[in-house]
Formats: sequence, structure tokens, C-alpha cells
Amino acid sequence: MRIRTTKGLTFDDVLLAPRQSPIRSRSEVDVSSRLTRTMRLAIPILSANMDTVTEWRMAAAIARAGGLGVLHRFMSVEQQVKQVAKVKRAQGLMVENPYTVLAGATVAEAEQLMTQHEVGGLIVVDDNKKLVGLITRRDILLAPEEIQSVAQAMTPADHIVSVGPSVTSAEARALLYQHRLEKLPVVDRAGKVVGLITSRDVVRVEHRSAASVDARGRLLVGAAIGVGQGEIKRAEALLEAGADLLVLDIAHGHANHCIEMVQTLRRSFPAAQLVAGNIATAEGARDLAEAGADAIKVGIGPGSICTTRIVTGFGVPQLTAIMEAVRGLSEAGLDAPVIADGGVKTSGDLVKALAAGASTVMIGSLFAGCEEAPGAPVIRNGQKVKVIRGMASLGAAMGRRAAEQNLDESAEDQEDWDKVVPEGVEAVVPYRGEVAEILHQLVGGLRSGLSYGGARDIEELQRHAEFIEITSAGVRESGSHDVRKI
Ligand code: XMP
Repeated sequence: MRIRTTKGLTFDDVLLAPRQSPIRSRSEVDVSSRLTRTMRLAIPILSANMDTVTEWRMAAAIARAGGLGVLHRFMSVEQQVKQVAKVKRAQGLMVENPYTVLAGATVAEAEQLMTQHEVGGLIVVDDNKKLVGLITRRDILLAPEEIQSVAQAMTPADHIVSVGPSVTSAEARALLYQHRLEKLPVVDRAGKVVGLITSRDVVRVEHRSAASVDARGRLLVGAAIGVGQGEIKRAEALLEAGADLLVLDIAHGHANHCIEMVQTLRRSFPAAQLVAGNIATAEGARDLAEAGADAIKVGIGPGSICTTRIVTGFGVPQLTAIMEAVRGLSEAGLDAPVIADGGVKTSGDLVKALAAGASTVMIGSLFAGCEEAPGAPVIRNGQKVKVIRGMASLGAAMGRRAAEQNLDESAEDQEDWDKVVPEGVEAVVPYRGEVAEILHQLVGGLRSGLSYGGARDIEELQRHAEFIEITSAGVRESGSHDVRKI
């Protein structure tokens, strides 16, 4: 047994000392950062792979703003693959393999398909996938009662403008504008439908230059995997579906079975971008990077809903954990960026995590209240809130077990409840509207932070950062105080 006498520090224990700055305006600074050895993001922010934080809507919104969302893994492989596909379809000039309906289907069937796929319109095709029309919710809404079939309700092909696969965004924009259209089906030489271009996608591609996109203009997305049986198959299916990043995420990542899994994944998918974690020590970071991880996720117990430190007595305060991981990697000569996962409550915490050496930050609870997080808001004590739950909480564990056993989540099974030792809690967070607004605040704070640090970019911030340990009086002084908040 031994005891370290140097204190472990977290975000609230320190402040950054301001430095002489050449920065005149916040717009002069560059907030892009490395996500893995070879991937870069326009903003250094990831959404957490938790079932109350990241499914496809959140992942798409974060990627549009220049970050990246990591889909949680507590669903079947088929469901997770569908989630990847939904992000990939959410943006790109052309949606490939758009949803279609046969001309012979009924209006009710078309409506059901639109609801199932969460889209406002479908391309109508014949048995050979040739374009015969377009049907939208508006067509159905306004159709007189005697109209029963899709063929009757649709706009027929000779009234539709379609384009070939090589159309550019400028050409598509001109056609959409000239004909006052919403959608342009893309057909090949044989007249078969191969894609769909919507006016929204054209505008997005043109205006969102900061968005995180792949070579085909589609949004980037990460997906979490575990170490259990069948997880190699999950990884393979996710990569096949277009996932840009695999995140091997287990509670105690510095475990032999996690290191072995990283090695197996590296051997099986040499070109895949692979993140591994979570760890909180120099040795943990080094071992996962040596095994082949392209980035290391750091954080044992700092999360808002985590009780690991209380339940097990283990953990490292997050600022120290980040610094130790960065030290371990650099001393071993390993070039794997660090993702600081958990505990970020403010843009100030984001700046501190990056200044301590993290290249990106993963966020859970700050995003759980957003519109794009899974689940609907509810009213609690007159306030609009959304639910967040730790992935090791009782509710999440029972939910997973129920899903595995095909049971109702609410089924009372005393024996099962007794077996769970939760390391997380369920809670509510205020409803916060769209995540783009939170990101705007976080990135605005980061830009200001760089200017206080006299740094043009995150790497420069890290080189020059000087932290000052503060006392509880310093913490009190740092927030608004001695005033009544309105
Ligand atoms: P924040 O503070 O952003 O943290 O909400 C999100 C991170 O918390 C971790 N996480 C957990 N940790 N028990 C834990 O000890 C849990 O049940 C749990 N669920 C999530 C996770 O790393 C996430 O990204």
C-alpha cells in the first residue's frame, strides 16, 4: 500500500492565469482540434454515448456544428446500424437509396412509411425501381376521400424535375429555385432512382462549411461498442454502415480484456478509427494506445450522474486524470489524443480540460436536456425537464436486461433488482432547447478563453497554460456573488 501526497485536482480547484494576448477579436482564434491520430474536428466537442444523450438526431446536430456524436451501444446491432444510416442520410448533397413506395400501394401505407422513416415525402417507383412520381404528406392531407392509391395521390413523373447523379450543388440549387421545388429525385441513365436532393440539403452543404463531413459530404458519426461476445460483429456491421469512429467504451478500460479487444479490433480493422477507454492514469492511457487505440477516453467517475467513486472508492479527479494520461502518452512517445469525458459543466471547464492537454471533450448532462436528445420533455414542479440516466444506473441496467430478455422494463422481478449494483443515478435536467444554442455558448466561451490565454489555437493554449490552485474562497469569488440573481 502507498499513498500519493500530491493532491488530485479537478476543474473547480483551479483557474488559468491570463497571459499577454495578441488576439484582438474572438473570431481570430482557431478552435479546431485533433480527435484521433488522423481525424480533426472544427470544434473539440463530442456528445456522450449515453442512451439519454446520443441517438441519430443528436449525432447529426453535433456533426452539423463541427463536432461529433457517439451513438450509444445499448441497442441491438440492427438498431445501431440503422442509427448510423440515419445520420449518414441526414446530410450530403444527395441522400442515397432514398425511401420509396410502390405506385400500387395505398395512401395509408405511404403515410405509415413516412411516419416509420420520419420523412415528409417518398419517391414513387415501379417494380423495377423506375421513377413514376413523388408523394408528400401535403398530397395526402389535401387528397379528397375517394383517392385511395399512391398512383392517384402522387405528382406523376412527367410533372417532376429529376437530375442525374453527377449534378453539382449549384445546378441543383438553380433547378430547385427555378421550379420552386422542395425535392429533386436523382435517376441513373436507365431511369432508376438512385438518390434524392432536397432544398434543405443544398443550403446545408453550401453554408455549413464547418460541419464534420466525410468524403461524400455526409455527416460524421461515432458509435460505441463493448467487449462482450458479438462485439466484433457489431464493430464490423457499424463500419460497413459507414460509422467513422468506433468507441470501445467500458467502465474500467484499463483491464486486460479491454486491451485485448483493442488489439483484436486493430488487427481486424486496420483502417478503422478506434477510441478506447475509460481510464484515468498514465499507465492506462499508455497501454490502450500501445494496443492500437487512435485516441484515449479519460474519466473515471467525474460525470454528473456517476457514482463509481462513491460505490467503489476508485477514481481520479478529472483535471489530474487528463494531465496524467497526456503525460503517460507523451513519455511513451505515443501520438494518441486524449478525450476528456465527464464533468464539464461550463465553457470554463471545457477550456480548462483542453488547457490541461485534452484534445476534445465529451459531454453528457449539458446535452441531455436538449431537444435532440432521446425522449420527450416532461413537466416537473412546473418546470420543463428531460431525463438523464447513468449507463450504470439501476434504471439503465434493468432496461438493458429487460430488452435482452424481451421483458417489459417495468416488470417487477425482485431477484433481478437485487443483483444490480448501480454506479450511476437517474436524474432530470432543465430542458434547454436546441443543442446548437448550447454549442454556440460553449464555443463562444472557448474562443474568449483562447484570447485570455494569448493563444491562437488549442495547441498554443496547451503549450502556455498556467493553472493556479484556488481555495474555496476563490471558488466562491469566481461565480456571481453577493447579488440576488434575476
Ligand atoms: P457528464 O458530466 O457530461 O458526464 O454528464 C458524461 C459521462 O459520464 C460517464 N457515465 C457514467 N459514469 N456511472 C459512471 O460512473 C454511470 O452510470 C455513467 N453513465 C455515464 C460517461 O463516461 C459519460 O460520457
